[in-house]
Formats: sequence, structure tokens, C-alpha cells
Amino acid sequence: MSETSFENDRRQSNSMNVEYHQHHTAIEHPRDHSNLGRILQPALESFSGLSTISRDTLQKNLQPIMNALERLDAQLLLDLKSVKVGEGPRLNDSQSCAAIYDDIQPPMNHHSVVNTSSCVRYVHISEIPDQYSIGIFVFAPYGRIPLHDHPDMCVLSRVLYGDLERRSLDLARLDEDVMDHSKSGRRNWMSNFFGRENNTTQQALPKGTKRAFKNHVDHLKAPQVTALFPYEGNLHEFVAGPNGAAVLDVLLPPYDNTQNRDCTFYEIRETDPGRKPSGKEPCYVVPTGQPEDFHCISGRYGDLGEDDHQDMDFSV
Ligand SMILES: [Fe+2]
Repeated sequence: MSETSFENDRRQSNSMNVEYHQHHTAIEHPRDHSNLGRILQPALESFSGLSTISRDTLQKNLQPIMNALERLDAQLLLDLKSVKVGEGPRLNDSQSCAAIYDDIQPPMNHHSVVNTSSCVRYVHISEIPDQYSIGIFVFAPYGRIPLHDHPDMCVLSRVLYGDLERRSLDLARLDEDVMDHSKSGRRNWMSNFFGRENNTTQQALPKGTKRAFKNHVDHLKAPQVTALFPYEGNLHEFVAGPNGAAVLDVLLPPYDNTQNRDCTFYEIRETDPGRKPSGKEPCYVVPTGQPEDFHCISGRYGDLGEDDHQDMDFSV
């Protein structure tokens, strides 16, 4: 990708309903994000309709980007100040840094949001519609992003500093509960389960409800890189640790409500409250609209981000 193509980068409103001002940010700044951007376009030229591509193929195509994210120097990217280990969020096992949540402009006291744990900051870096979007989510201590999805998308996340608890779910494929039935002549246990639900619970569930499988709640920490796919891990929620966190996300392709790639928030509806959790536990996810107590407010950090700060409306 040439520098010129970055200059042509136009951040347009997407399904997050963020209207970015069309002005140049410091994408040409000789720091890691420009190098990261260069690797994205060749990897993405064939990316459309990701749900039809196997996870293995997606993983293979995304691996160069994941490798680039692993090499990313978070301290250089964010000009992070070193502090004694344990006195700030971790960059890795042997280094800590000063958190930047309060340095994002304008600061949160310019907003009416009182509880910072319900407010995540977003620093936009770059977007090319239908190809990719890069941005950094900055969490206050115990900051939370509620359960949401990424339809027909892959997302690569690099924890720049700090740690987070992640709850994620796989989406059931449409044919997941009938394939084995047609092959074997009998319904497997999951088919039986969902078949029973189809006749009872699902009929009472709101429009937009989807079948899903819970993954074990896990813990992410810097400098970890993680990926989600159109089905595997496609829904997730995060709660930052006691020192907050910053996560660089690469969305492939970006949210776009004109392409049926809206961001929807969900709550989990248990299918069988008496069932013992065992990983891959089936459930339903029910759309909720954006939780009223959640705010994601875009801002500027140094030469990154936008002057156009606003509460980003994720809801559809
Ligand atoms: Fe997400």
C-alpha cells in the first residue's frame, strides 16, 4: 500500500453511525501503524463474503497481519511512559506503562458520563470502506464493552497494554443441527436439543435471536494477539482489569449497515438453566439494542484519532 492510498483514506460513516470529518490524520507518521497498514491491502483483495470461507483459509490469509500485530511496538505506537512494574498496566511480563485513558482528548469530564467503567474511548486510525478499519479501544479500569457481534467479519485484536476478561460465543451455522441428521439418519444430541427448542422456546424469542455456543471465559493480556471469525468467537464482550487496557482492533471488513454488517448488542438467554457449563454450551443470543449505560466516545490521542469526538452509536 502506498502512502498516497493512505492520503486518500476517507473515513465515512459506517454502521457505527460515526461521521468522521474528512481530514488527514497522521497516517503517514513513520510509526508502526503505517507499516501495519501497508500489509493489509494485499491480504484483503480477495476478502468478501467471509462466511463462505473456511476458518482455516481465513486464518492462513490473516496470519501475516497477525504476525505484524505481534511485532507492533505498543510503547512506540502510543508513546507510552514506562513505570515500575506493577505500578501501571503491563506491556508484557517484564514492563509496565502509564495508562492513557485520561489523556484522550477531550477528557471524560467534558462529557455527561459519570461512570468511566461504562465508557470506553475509541481512537480511530484508518479505514478503507469494504476493506478494513483500524482503531484503538481504550478501557478505564474495569471498563466494559457489552456483548456484540461482527457479522460476516473477522477481527484481529492486539492487546497493547493491560489485561481483559473475555466472554465469547460461536455462532451456530444454519445447517449445524441438520447436517448430521441427513448423513446419519438420526439426530445428534445438539439437533435433539435445538429441535426441542424450536418447538417451544424459540417461538417466543424476539426477532434477530440467534443460536450460539458459549466458549469458556478467558483472560487476555498484553501483548497477546487474538482473532475472531464469522462463526468462531464472533460475539464477544470485554471487561478490563484493574489497570485498564488498550486494544488495537483490525476489522476485516469494517461494519457497514449498507452491507448488512451492523453491530448488534445481545444478551444471552440460557437454553437450559439447569445444565452444567462444559464449554461449547448451547444458548440463544437475543438482540438488546445498545445498553443505555454503555458509551464509546471517540477522541484524539497525540497525533492519532479524530478531533471529531462524539458518543458512538453502535446500535442499529
Ligand atoms: Fe468487538
